[in-house]
Amino acid sequence: MSTTFTLDTATSRANPTPAPVRRLTVPTIRARKAGAGEAVAEPIVMLTAYTARMAQLLDPHCDMLLVGDSLGQVIYGLPTTIPVSLDMMCAHGAAVVRGSYRSVVVIDMPFGSYEASPEQAFASAARILKETGAAAVKLEGGEAMAPTIAFLAARGIPVVGHIGLTPQAVNALGGYAARGRSEAEEGKILCDARAVADAGAFALVAEGVVEPIAAAVTHAVACPVIGIGASAACDGQVLVIDDMLGMFERTARFVKRYDELAERVTVAAATYAGEVRNRAFPTSDQTYAAKR
Ligand code: KIV
Repeated sequence: MSTTFTLDTATSRANPTPAPVRRLTVPTIRARKAGAGEAVAEPIVMLTAYTARMAQLLDPHCDMLLVGDSLGQVIYGLPTTIPVSLDMMCAHGAAVVRGSYRSVVVIDMPFGSYEASPEQAFASAARILKETGAAAVKLEGGEAMAPTIAFLAARGIPVVGHIGLTPQAVNALGGYAARGRSEAEEGKILCDARAVADAGAFALVAEGVVEPIAAAVTHAVACPVIGIGASAACDGQVLVIDDMLGMFERTARFVKRYDELAERVTVAAATYAGEVRNRAFPTSDQTYAAKR
């Protein structure tokens, strides 16, 4: 069943009627960087979003919204991104498209939906784009994924690559430590970045890489490089929204907490619970009176 509906702003709780605005496009994002060795005039802003309302709030401030498979941990409480399914990505992807008007929406291809062959990747990516209305997909991997990226790009599917720390490979990597600390790793990350960019990715996410490698990758490839835990040397930045809002007790070193939302939710819930128990809520302000 298709999940592409438009948000009914007359009935939705998330009711703002959006000001007419044209959505940014994949070519406009790609064109923000003139080529290898060139700096972007203004860094590209990306955040993750998983729900329609959060997309509405973030959209005016972002160039790209990423429906990351991090939703496995953030929304579903899973231990890793490995169990995330195409169904989950399509449902949340469609919600984010419904809630956004300006940003380019990119949807993660979940583990197991693209690695077997370019044909498998095409079928999964086509389903994602059809069911969500998003503009692009993201997939993890370097040189080994280059033929798949070329296959998708040649068939009209815009792809964002993802190199460095690739969380879907957590079992192979043995954890989430930053990459690029040894010479061998450094060379591999640079080769991966070049291969993915040359295959036709219109942008790259570089995750958890030490600053000199992030700088070398950003300088080496023609497309924009969006960093997460990859220093200020990149062409743009992405963060997981719940991390930057302070929804979790612990966050990685590279995350800046722009709020402490978990604390504020706790205070609100405790206040509500107290008022219900001592009958301070609801008052007449929140009560329907009979019309006679
Ligand atoms: O899944 C995700 O949120 C991501 C970001 C960490 C880049 O891939």
